[in-house]
Amino acid sequence: MAADGVTVAVERGAALAPLLGALARLRVTVFRAWPYLYDGSEAYEADYLQTYVKAPGAAVAVARDGASVVGASTCLPMAEASADARAPFLAAGLSLADFFYFGESVLLDAYRGQGIGVRFFELREAHALALGQARFCTFCAVQRAADDPRRPPGAIGLDGFWAHRGYVKHPAFTARMRWKDVDEAGETPKTLTFWMKSLFGDALPPGLLRRPGRLNTGPQP
Ligand SMILES: CC(C)(COP(=O)(O)OP(=O)(O)OC[C@H]1O[C@@H](n2cnc3c(N)ncnc32)[C@H](O)[C@@H]1OP(=O)(O)O)[C@@H](O)C(=O)NCCC(=O)NCCS
Repeated sequence: MAADGVTVAVERGAALAPLLGALARLRVTVFRAWPYLYDGSEAYEADYLQTYVKAPGAAVAVARDGASVVGASTCLPMAEASADARAPFLAAGLSLADFFYFGESVLLDAYRGQGIGVRFFELREAHALALGQARFCTFCAVQRAADDPRRPPGAIGLDGFWAHRGYVKHPAFTARMRWKDVDEAGETPKTLTFWMKSLFGDALPPGLLRRPGRLNTGPQP
């Protein structure tokens, strides 16, 4: 259940086009904060979000308070995801068709802690199941150093939230993505750690287990 007065609906294809401005604004606003610290522009974001309009398997769960868009959560088959997201899967010899990729979830502060993030996961997993191809859902999250001075006092990460949704962190399986942090002069590469969940209780592909250092499928610290 989402918060009172807030609706969450899945939008696809051309129906997303009129929402791109609002979605771009949300990404720039929410990702500017710790831990992403992303110094983004709405113009760039609106262009990037075209991916979700064009990719045939993509969907966006859109949270609205009345007419205003207050949150969004994106997903698409891994084969349609960005080259940066696909790269570690290809390097590990995995079949992209087995994986369904969750791009990002962004929700304005005032709407957090009311179940909307849980709903985003439910809707994206339901979409992956409806498409009927992937066996695993996966997403990646930025790694920041434990002693990063920019970490706000008392900041609580989302690891517990994701673990409660059944996702397992694979610290050795990572993507590299570039962006400019708010306090940086230009873009630098960032490391993002993958999390995975089996949709049908399958073990992760055996090829993966034979690649130590690529993906650790054991219990995580
Ligand atoms: C990720 C994000 C969308 C999560 O949104 P959220 O709506 O606050 O998450 P929820 O409210 O669904 O879940 C948070 C907790 O509240 C609980 N909750 C669920 N329903 C609730 C309700 N009706 N009232 C209060 N709490 C509730 C959930 O169970 C969950 O706890 P759990 O992990 O112990 O199970 C939000 O934190 C965000 O935008 N973060 C910044 C961007 C980011 O880092 N995105 C992720 C990487 S792309």
